[in-house]
Amino acid sequence: MKESQPAAIYLKDYKVPPFLIDKTELTFELDESTTVVTSKLHMRRNPTSTENTAPLVLDGGEDVKLIAVAMDDYVLPEGEYQLVDNQLVITATADNFILTCETLIEPQNNTKLEGLYRSSSMFCTQCEAEGFRHITYYLDRPDVMSVFTTTIIADNEQYPVMLSNGNEIERTQTEEGKTAVVWHDPFPKPAYLFALVAGNLEVKNDTFVTQSQREVKLQIFTEAHNIDKVDYAMEALKRSMRWDEEVYGREYDLDIFMIVAVDDFNMGAMENKGLNIFNSSCLLASPETTTDDSYLRVEAIVAHEYFHNWSGNRVTCRDWFQLSLKEGFTVFRDQTFSADMHSATVKRVEDVSFLKTAQFAEDAGPMAHPVRPASFIEISNFYTLTVYEKGAEIVRMIHTLLGAENFRKGSDLYFERHDGQAVTCDDFVAAMEAASGVDLTQFKRWYSQAGTPQVRVIGEYDESQQSYTLRLHQDTPATPGQPTKLPSHIPVRVGLLDQAGNPLSASLDGQSANEHLLELSQAEQVFEFTQVSSKPVPSLLRGFSAPVKLSYEYSSTDLLLLLSADQDGFNRWSAGQQLAVNELSQLIEQAVAGQTLSLESQLINGFNSLLVDDSLDPAMVALILNLPSQAYLSELASEIHPNAIKQARQYLKAQIANALESEFAQTYQAHRLDGEYRPDAQDIAHRSLKNLALSYWLETDSAEAKLAVVEQFESANNMTDQFAALSIAVHADHPQATQMLDAFYQQWQDEPLVVNKWLMLSAGREQENAIDNMKSLMEHEAFDLKNPNKVRSLLGGFGQNISAFHHVDGSGYRFLADQILVLDKRNPQIASRLCTPLTRWKKMTPSLSTLMKAELERIMADQLSKDVYEVISKSLA
Ligand code: PHE
Ligand code: ZN
Repeated sequence: MKESQPAAIYLKDYKVPPFLIDKTELTFELDESTTVVTSKLHMRRNPTSTENTAPLVLDGGEDVKLIAVAMDDYVLPEGEYQLVDNQLVITATADNFILTCETLIEPQNNTKLEGLYRSSSMFCTQCEAEGFRHITYYLDRPDVMSVFTTTIIADNEQYPVMLSNGNEIERTQTEEGKTAVVWHDPFPKPAYLFALVAGNLEVKNDTFVTQSQREVKLQIFTEAHNIDKVDYAMEALKRSMRWDEEVYGREYDLDIFMIVAVDDFNMGAMENKGLNIFNSSCLLASPETTTDDSYLRVEAIVAHEYFHNWSGNRVTCRDWFQLSLKEGFTVFRDQTFSADMHSATVKRVEDVSFLKTAQFAEDAGPMAHPVRPASFIEISNFYTLTVYEKGAEIVRMIHTLLGAENFRKGSDLYFERHDGQAVTCDDFVAAMEAASGVDLTQFKRWYSQAGTPQVRVIGEYDESQQSYTLRLHQDTPATPGQPTKLPSHIPVRVGLLDQAGNPLSASLDGQSANEHLLELSQAEQVFEFTQVSSKPVPSLLRGFSAPVKLSYEYSSTDLLLLLSADQDGFNRWSAGQQLAVNELSQLIEQAVAGQTLSLESQLINGFNSLLVDDSLDPAMVALILNLPSQAYLSELASEIHPNAIKQARQYLKAQIANALESEFAQTYQAHRLDGEYRPDAQDIAHRSLKNLALSYWLETDSAEAKLAVVEQFESANNMTDQFAALSIAVHADHPQATQMLDAFYQQWQDEPLVVNKWLMLSAGREQENAIDNMKSLMEHEAFDLKNPNKVRSLLGGFGQNISAFHHVDGSGYRFLADQILVLDKRNPQIASRLCTPLTRWKKMTPSLSTLMKAELERIMADQLSKDVYEVISKSLA
């Protein structure tokens, strides 16, 4: 047990920093055993602080060893400074001074991957959120912005590439025969945006000419064996730079922009000023080794990090409670970018599907928190789907409420007002209000209230009056620490269809149109449409105009109509999902009651017409035909029965497959492409429908389908098709699944990113001795507990293994808990993220719930990091 429990910190306690750091000069003497860091901080008291006599308190870490500290050349003797709780405290200071600190760190022993650490043969850093304090003592908070000059001294043979933020301004030889490189970043920035890289790296060079005709040098660095996989990222970078100029008027501001790929990284990527650092899984791409999904992810993440240069770096966060200021906005920006590059509807469906599955679950669980949290124990735990994805939905709703033009005025004003500042979500909203004249006072509750609002809608048609009334009712469930909620300001985009599926124009508040934006702001509100010539079917929440759970009593006929005819592509998908959810819910109930499953699916006809309609985007057809996931059905359930959900999905899929066998076989053939692989929207669409058809077709147990799977696996010229065939085979328990898995490993054992996919699939494979299989995978040469990507693949894959993870003997939960305890000693951030499936224990069916809870309690009894402590203690509360 803990001697003392980690304490929470609160937004309401925010105070401006008593000291500022105008300039930061750092020197790193890199070495395999001990790295010496010397910092020279040009400090002064903050004139806006009222704490005029406060001592100077600098953040450090247990892994930073202080050698010497001096103030304006006066070396402080012991006694004139204190080290308390990893902080360096100096009581007597002048108003202006230069603080010099010499510290020692051991990057080679840094297993948490925050601060300065080693990944394969290189040195690299990760400083967000509070990693810089593991490098040297500092005011490690985002509202302290400083101009950095960084000197890196290392052996030139081993580390020919030495990088930091900004521009390289000097390169010299030291007397010891080492190389010293000096980098200077003219833009003031918080320490979390600092970066350093040193290694023997290859580079790919390019240039970009900005809208004002400045030439920017672009560089992507990787280890030698990966440099042939960066072309796609480079092109994505140039597209992002152009797009940000065109859509937001934002131009790049330094002469050079660099990206480095590293293999060991806790997150996806990091937007350090002028020197982005990427998890190699989010940067590298080649047709043979990368699936379509990963291509799109690389493009989106390259864009995301690049967009942070304005939304995050030029304008940054005042404190970490404001994280969504940069993340929500930047996710919205990267989503819109991807929508512009490919299909907007497909992108929206994918994003919403993810939000409704994973963010809604988070918002209904023990870790639920507002987009702007009011408190936290460990900030690393708050890089969440709520802050990122729900945060992006908030920005999207502002876009919807203001309209594109006013939104752009608002973003221009935001950047103009706050360039070079560290600000709050309120500042963002204030700029949007000032530029548009729209009052967002009530809207701001989206930032402070956790939980997903539920909107119930009732429609009533009055034939004699030709009027249609929509009655909307909203409420938001209680979440931890927030028992009651106030009504939210919810934009609901609505269209009406006549019974033949044609758009039905209607008048609302004197405005006649095919589509209306309802602004629901009260608990209950009535909207009266007039001039409605026939009884409508409402198409509600088009484009998912707000992150809410909307319910309306649709008949199956209504849903089939929306599925086949709605003008809003998103709602066609949504109607298909709803139909499938309705049927699956019945089947789940039967399975829970131990009955034999039986149902005549109405989806068959609807799916059939989609399959034979050549005018449709194959990607949309694939999305609609993809049955709601295990995870989404779990989110919807009031009590989760994993095996019943699995059974229900299998039953429905098999029934559809058998009814439409020849259609699936034909679709499979019709969408095969020959020619060179291209990751563009059109080809991706064909591949997705083809592979979806294959997965249904195989459900029919047809010998031809079995052959087709093997044939595709063996002859594919790209990873999308090869891996699709393999995972279809594994999930359907194809007689050759084992051989295929083995062959796949043999073929790709030297490509770590592909091997990770193999690990994930192997861990997710449902089989008798799954736990033993997991144990041997953990011993496999392909696995490495030190590498976060491998841990995520293997243990994440295991979470998908329904029969093993949710085994009634509790062995699955126990296995995961054991790994969490081991990992927590090495890398608390990764350990903490692995806890997520266990945090859902209250929603599980009682027998499983008890087992999960027991594992949470067992974890809780150990000596834990702040990260895991916070998640587990809140889950048990
Ligand atoms: N700021 C990064 C992003 O969203 C994410 C990140 C957070 C990376 C913390 C590393 C550490 O782009
Ligand atoms: Zn981000």
